[in-house]
Amino acid sequence: MNVTNICCIGAGYVGGPTMAVIALKCPQIKVTVVDVNQQRIDAWNSADLDQLPIYEPGLKEVVEEARGRNLFFSTNVDKAIDEAQMIFMAVNTPTKSYGEGKGFAADLTFVEKCARQIAEVSNTDKIVIEKSTLPVRTAEKIKEVLSSNTKGVNFEVLSNPEFLAEGTAIQDLFKSDRVLVGGDNTESGNAAVAALVSIYSNWIPQEKILTTNVWSSELSKLASNAMLAQRISSINSLSALCEETGADIEEVSKAIGMDSRIGSKFLKASVGFGGSCFQKDILNLVYLCRHYGLDEVAEYWYQVIKINNYQKNRFAKKIITGLNGTVNQKKVTLLGWAFKKDTNDSRESAAIYVADILLEEGAELHIYDPMVKATRIHQDLTTLWEARNESKDEIAYKLKRCIVHQNHTTALDSSFAAAIVTEWDEFKSYDWNTIADNMMQPAKVFDGRNIVKDTEEYKFKLKKVGSSNVKNSSNERKEKAI
Ligand code: NAD
Ligand code: UGA
Repeated sequence: MNVTNICCIGAGYVGGPTMAVIALKCPQIKVTVVDVNQQRIDAWNSADLDQLPIYEPGLKEVVEEARGRNLFFSTNVDKAIDEAQMIFMAVNTPTKSYGEGKGFAADLTFVEKCARQIAEVSNTDKIVIEKSTLPVRTAEKIKEVLSSNTKGVNFEVLSNPEFLAEGTAIQDLFKSDRVLVGGDNTESGNAAVAALVSIYSNWIPQEKILTTNVWSSELSKLASNAMLAQRISSINSLSALCEETGADIEEVSKAIGMDSRIGSKFLKASVGFGGSCFQKDILNLVYLCRHYGLDEVAEYWYQVIKINNYQKNRFAKKIITGLNGTVNQKKVTLLGWAFKKDTNDSRESAAIYVADILLEEGAELHIYDPMVKATRIHQDLTTLWEARNESKDEIAYKLKRCIVHQNHTTALDSSFAAAIVTEWDEFKSYDWNTIADNMMQPAKVFDGRNIVKDTEEYKFKLKKVGSSNVKNSSNERKEKAI
């Protein structure tokens, strides 16, 4: 099939950037990204490219070149489905918050709605592509829904999971480590796989395009995220041991990573991983394993989440302990709210959980993030508290003690402690001694990303993740910190 018209349902962090890059690299194909969220579509169509709904380095340049040429954003879902030969489903698949599998399974409501709409609207044959991250064997369910079409349309369902990371999405899409395409080993299945491969071949070298059966593709996506998150939990678990023993996690991480069999990436100790996917996808994996009676396997992966929760709690508790055991009525500053640098996304950010603990302990929280807006920050906290059934009064009381600043200076003035939660580059360039002069004394900095350089010249006490408090000759200097 010569594909000339693509539709993508879901104009979020995946649908927007992936389709923008396909449109850029394949000017011969019309790409329409649709969403039910009018506000989001309006933002994608905004004349001011700084108003795009997603902040990603390099994204606005791509949108500027392709939008209006062969890239379109619309809320007319039916029309885009009808016109397309190939439909990507890039809708959200959150953790279920109700019913069977609550708290673990993926909520497939949005995926099923898409499939139903495709079945209803389609008059011609379509290749339907799972771009969302889905449990193994979801394609089976999608096929069943699509079979409700009464117009004799043939649907081929492919799995083409997305591996981009936020903050580097455009770079990742330009130079993917691999593109994975899972399809049925039938004549029409192979033709559909070939059609999708030919699109990626416009810029991805052939040897990086991997074709597999559908179930392998679906599982590989969950497994990739689980393995990445497992590395972070592994290094974070060791960071706790370093703090007790006099070892330094940065040195340990470097030593481990220099083994080429292990590699150095994803071994950066932190306040804990965040983001919309790692936790959700591991919980989904745990649910699947339990579903198939593989309880030991489920428990193995669940431990990755447990260590992550432990790390977030540990960081918050270090702040409380470091402030003489109480933060009650003390100004404490959180630097960063996004779950990592170079994104405005704060879904499941460690900052939310650290803030929650500090507010619970009575802190006056002051927050600065270069990209995340105050409304988002308050919404993140409100969502957490509403899920815990906290009363409106309680929520209002805590939100009042949660002040968001437009710059770091006012956020840090007269603060008892600064806690770095996101590794934004601008935090690395701060003049920390000047900042410390304006903080309550003794000023304390809790570095949840290990970005503040170690030096003896500081006028404040620095506490890093995985850096020891144990006094011995090799780390006496660090003992001067906290
Ligand atoms: P998102 O919430 O940013 O975007 C999803 C969009 O789908 C929303 O704008 C929503 O309005 C829209 N939508 C939902 N149902 C719809 C429907 N029936 N019709 C039209 N629009 C509909 O989500 P995301 O971060 O882009 O993630 C999408 C999927 O991709 C998830 O399965 C996620 O696990 C996976 N994924 C995400 C990332 C990432 O970095 N965010 C990376 C790889 C994979
Ligand atoms: C992750 C994967 O890296 C992508 O391949 C995948 O497509 C995506 O999930 C997804 O399915 O959504 P993302 O969550 O955007 O991408 O960002 P990462 O760079 O993986 O970071 C995730 C979290 O781990 C962040 O909070 C980050 O700060 C933290 N992290 C990362 C560490 O704490 N230490 C590290 O060494 C690396």
